[in-house]
Amino acid sequence: MLSVSAAVMGSLQFGYNTGVINAPQKIIEDFYSETWSRRFTKPISQPTLTALWSLSVAIFPVGGMIGSFSVGLFVNRFGRKNSMLGANILAVLSAVLMGFSQLAGSFEMLIVGRFIVGVFCGLCTGFVPMYVEEISPTSLRGALGTLHQLGVVLGILLAQILGIEWLLGGSSLWPLLLSFTVLPALLQCALLPFCPESPRYLFINCGQESEAHEVLVKLRGTEEVGEDLQEMREESQRMQRERSVSIPELLRSAQYRQPLIVAVLLQLSQQLSGINAVFYYSTGIFERAGVSQPVYATIGAGVVNTAFTVISLFVVERMGRRPLHLIGLMGMAVSAVFLTVAMVLTEKLSWMSYISIAAIFSFVAFFEIGPGPIPWFIVAELFSQGPRPSAIAVAGFSNWSANFLVGMCFQYVEQLCGPYVFIIFTVLLLGFFVFTYFKVPETKGRTFEEISAGFRRSGGADKYSAAEEFNTLHGEDPDL
Ligand code: GLC
Repeated sequence: MLSVSAAVMGSLQFGYNTGVINAPQKIIEDFYSETWSRRFTKPISQPTLTALWSLSVAIFPVGGMIGSFSVGLFVNRFGRKNSMLGANILAVLSAVLMGFSQLAGSFEMLIVGRFIVGVFCGLCTGFVPMYVEEISPTSLRGALGTLHQLGVVLGILLAQILGIEWLLGGSSLWPLLLSFTVLPALLQCALLPFCPESPRYLFINCGQESEAHEVLVKLRGTEEVGEDLQEMREESQRMQRERSVSIPELLRSAQYRQPLIVAVLLQLSQQLSGINAVFYYSTGIFERAGVSQPVYATIGAGVVNTAFTVISLFVVERMGRRPLHLIGLMGMAVSAVFLTVAMVLTEKLSWMSYISIAAIFSFVAFFEIGPGPIPWFIVAELFSQGPRPSAIAVAGFSNWSANFLVGMCFQYVEQLCGPYVFIIFTVLLLGFFVFTYFKVPETKGRTFEEISAGFRRSGGADKYSAAEEFNTLHGEDPDL
């Protein structure tokens, strides 16, 4: 618990920085205008202000794309734990830049700070699930993996609450709001030295069997770690032949094609579900839907978001990844239809604003049942030690690119489609539902080795879906 809690301080910062610029937009825009007038002795034009603000928001996922793509550069060279520890330099640097931007009269410092914290969060979305999955016992991998997402949603909620105008979201304290991210960074630096390195990294990547044994005994709280060690030994032997796999090798190899397509599409299903249209722009969406207190409705969405992540945490090991992801996607698609109907009718029937709130809350709730937590941790499950870092980098990059796309385009598409904008997400969600149904295998309760064996045996045989192949194997092969 100590190790996982220390690791998810990174996830908390990812969530915090996702949610933090929603509430204080107007106040920070005022600072941009004043700084501009002082510097250029003429007022800023509205299009320039909009462009500067969009840049401040969207540069965060751009940093995330770069950070997530670089994960593989660090995790094998410095280890999982030291990579997480070292990345905090970026968090501290960005907090200093954003925290002093007002004092220095420089919006550039804020924008550069958002970029750097984006790179940091991109790294975290690779480091944290990888470390957590590698230290977890097989039977708890999904539940502990979901804690990454719990960190994210708590970070979003914290940012929404602290961002209220009379807390830190006012005109004098907003720099503190932005630099608050330094606290979880320092806490993580204080805790990580007491946590062990990933035993899989020690054994399989560094060949340190006795150190891995020691760490496992510490992590499991028992001397009975023979089974874990044996599994790593087998994977290590296979690694002698496989070695670590670079990103170009991963993209070229037919053997990894199937799990890579699954990993990337699951990430896309998470972002193209439209979830961040809600978390970046909910205040405006609620306003247009006729809600009188949009900021509090946004916090309500944050609370629902957190509650349902906790529910997913408790059911993921019982129900498995596939059913939860499928239920989540379908529930979101139906909620999006309700939201559209409510938005269309809101002019005529004022009580439709309640239906809009309910639809957004259920959209968010279904997201956290499956599409929120599962894509983040399932990538580590779908690959063995050799290709894992590169696979996590490619999957993370896809996630952040889609995040950027939704963040940038949503407002423009909404201007074009009006209240029908969520229908686009409904269509995408149904597409991802069909894909998940046919192509995503269940990974619950299987060791990493068993999961990749399922894919290896189905490799190239396109007439079988990986899911079918896996289940057939599981039923017939006594070794599994
Ligand atoms: C997931 C997504 C993130 C989103 C969050 C909402 O972690 O990756 O982009 O903001 O869920 O809870």
